[in-house]
Amino acid sequence: MSSPVWLTSVCHLSDTRAEPLPSQIYKDLTQAIRDGRIADGDRLPSSRSAALALGVSRTTVTAAYELLATEGIVTVRQGAAPRVIAPDPPGVDPRPDQGPDQGPTLSKRGITLSTDLRRQIMPASGGALVPGEPDETLFPSEDWARVLRRVSRRRLGTSALYDATYGVKALRQALRDRLAADRGVHVEADQIVIVPGSQAALALLSHSLTDPGDIAALETPGWLGARTAFLGAGLRLAPLPVDASGADPAHFPPDARLAYLTPSNQYPLGTRLSLSRRLDFIARAKAAGAILIEDDYDSDFHWSGRTIPALAAQEHGGHVILVGSASKALLPALRIGWIVVPSGLVGCIRAAQRNLGIMANVHAQLALAELMSSGRYRAQIRRIARSYHHRVRSLLDALATLPEARVHAPDGGVQVTLQFGPDRDEAELVSHLARYDLHPARLSGYCLNGERQGLVIGIGSATPDRIERLRKALADRF
Ligand SMILES: Cc1ncc(COP(=O)(O)O)c(C=O)c1O
Repeated sequence: MSSPVWLTSVCHLSDTRAEPLPSQIYKDLTQAIRDGRIADGDRLPSSRSAALALGVSRTTVTAAYELLATEGIVTVRQGAAPRVIAPDPPGVDPRPDQGPDQGPTLSKRGITLSTDLRRQIMPASGGALVPGEPDETLFPSEDWARVLRRVSRRRLGTSALYDATYGVKALRQALRDRLAADRGVHVEADQIVIVPGSQAALALLSHSLTDPGDIAALETPGWLGARTAFLGAGLRLAPLPVDASGADPAHFPPDARLAYLTPSNQYPLGTRLSLSRRLDFIARAKAAGAILIEDDYDSDFHWSGRTIPALAAQEHGGHVILVGSASKALLPALRIGWIVVPSGLVGCIRAAQRNLGIMANVHAQLALAELMSSGRYRAQIRRIARSYHHRVRSLLDALATLPEARVHAPDGGVQVTLQFGPDRDEAELVSHLARYDLHPARLSGYCLNGERQGLVIGIGSATPDRIERLRKALADRF
């Protein structure tokens, strides 16, 4: 059966490449067909959705498709998705054609591993209203400095060596207590593995629990970190479209090996996964023998209704693996996250983690453990949640003054999404806002095939003057 091609996972467009954009798309697609990442009969997206997904004009995509059609690599028929005709058996030439004397080339795995999807939708150096970035000024630097100084002076014995590469006991115990009290998840401290953040957790889990070619289902729109981790592990991606009740389990492929979900705050739309869908996902995962990875990154930031327990609290057979991170409550730069591993897998995941060398700094772990057990971590979350909620409300109020803007008030999370239909040009709007030094991300870039258009506005840097600048800049267009 033919499958759709996710262009953003094979086309790596960049200003630093010598060729014009149509040739870059043509080259990347040809290479992906040659090395078997795109198979004979696969369907390319329409020029419209391809243009949205890649953030280029439709003319650019049409020119690239015409080059492929001229070479007989795709068939293009009016009104139908272009289809790939693979000229060679897969695996003929795994190396990109970089000409002579170009130095070392990437492996097939290296090509997917080095895909930087974020750079296609947001500036490399961050900027005002970029999503996913907490406000550094809210970091409790005095508290952190004090506990870090204290723990760094301790003699740690074997913990300072290679004893607890899967995490220090004090932090695993503090997390065990926190997960039980705040997320309804009751586990042993030994089931918790400390890693350098959610991104590392997904890389570790996908490399340990899947084989290349396995299917990973993930939300669309969804977190690019999950997409890049799964592509890096050689997985095939299947879309789980998201609506007002969260990701839709009806799209869960019966042969999926794993699925990635953000049930408490869908990223980036901020919707909560409904109870019936939670149960449906669990039933389907059990039937498929698959694993649901629950990314609980943002569950502390809830703006409507009561906080509900984690998905992992509703399943006890090892089909849900919860992943968490201190990146939002504290700072991404601390690089601390955690995985709640089913007891039968603990030994193997610990060993795989050590073998991959993705361990977290022990002093930072001890400092975090102390903040958690003293109650200061919870106080910090309460403090920043108040501040973020205030910004979300101010932003929603500002956007409400634009009669044509469709804004979804999020159930939680530190970004707000403004959606619009095909009558608006997303790329043009983003360039317009960049002239005001505002850099929300393109919603289409979070979608597997650019199927939705809009702006994803980060709350971390949403100061009152930036919100007002955004309102003024958007008033020109809405
Ligand atoms: C959906 C989602 N999960 C997790 C994270 C945190 O990732 P990490 O722990 O690797 O910093 C982010 C950060 O932006 C995110 O958006």
